[in-house]
Amino acid sequence: MVMKEEKKEDTLILAIESSCDETAAAIVKNGREVLSNIISSQIDIHKLYGGVVPEIASRKHMERINYVMAEALSTALVGIEEVDAIAVTYGPGLVGAAAFAAKKPLIPVHHIEGHISANYIEYKELEPPFLCLVVSGGHTHLVIVNDYGDYKVIGRTRDDAAGEAFDKVARAIGLGYPGGPKLQKLAEEGNEDAIDFPRASIADAPYDFSFSGVKSAVLNYINACNMKGIEINRADIAASFQKAVVSVLVSHAILAAKEYHFDKLALAGGVASNTQLRLSMQKACEKEDISFYCPSPILCTDNAAMIGAAAYYEFLKNRRAGWDLNAVPNQKLGEKVFL
Ligand code: KG4
Ligand code: ZN
Repeated sequence: MVMKEEKKEDTLILAIESSCDETAAAIVKNGREVLSNIISSQIDIHKLYGGVVPEIASRKHMERINYVMAEALSTALVGIEEVDAIAVTYGPGLVGAAAFAAKKPLIPVHHIEGHISANYIEYKELEPPFLCLVVSGGHTHLVIVNDYGDYKVIGRTRDDAAGEAFDKVARAIGLGYPGGPKLQKLAEEGNEDAIDFPRASIADAPYDFSFSGVKSAVLNYINACNMKGIEINRADIAASFQKAVVSVLVSHAILAAKEYHFDKLALAGGVASNTQLRLSMQKACEKEDISFYCPSPILCTDNAAMIGAAAYYEFLKNRRAGWDLNAVPNQKLGEKVFL
């Protein structure tokens, strides 16, 4: 057993991602090479309800997990016996079951750590330390990545996450779920300077965010127009809202990069697939002589490959969890569960 591990050169990790509205599995080689990346989306189901319904999501995950795992293995042309470890996000339900069934070591990965690690797949040469802005449906975090698995959160949202604000505003202007990509599309037809929506800063916490103000401002604007009988221009609202959010994300991230003297800045999370955010951040980084990193959109939104990338570095450090690892909701980055 030990001999086999010593002789083997490559580390193959089967990673499973089951948070939010997708069930996904991937095979990742040595943390950076994606051999397969299978995503089974539940968007069509949740669309019917206008958002994610947790009970339905967890039942669907259980139904689909075997299928996506088999698909990930066969697409990668890898047998389960060749897999060195199984990586999972902390999440409700199926944690541990897959690794137990296959008698493989289990590596728990924090969801945010997974998002950050998507950058390692896109940029084979990228190594810590760097600064990372993680923007998803549940989180808006400015994170110093000191080393693999070593993080310091220096800023976070005080209320809504960036993606949550996108989704809520999208809903308010009649766009369906998921709102972020639809809002981006509509914004392309609008004038981003049409409406001056607020850009919030927090006096004593320059790296923290707040998006409930801009969200309320959009809702108030729509109400005011309705009361006055003025027809709203949805594309202008979308473009102006997007500009307000992007400008805050960029200015905070650049401020932190300068303050902490980082010459590498990375984006991560579902909102990082937003074209305007990518372009603005890239431009700002160029101006400040900072190298900019951003995974391809498919690696920004939830996927299992990013979990496999993060798990590889944990695997190298010999970190394992028991097969009975239970779901630990709302766990903070850095407070990990290991044996
Ligand atoms: O990381 P992710 O896939 O799931 C979470 O961990 O939350 O992020 C999903 C979020 C949703 O709020 C979605 O609307 C947003 O990312 N999103 C976008 C775009 N694509 C996804 N927001 C703005 N523009 C986009 N193109
Ligand atoms: Zn996510």
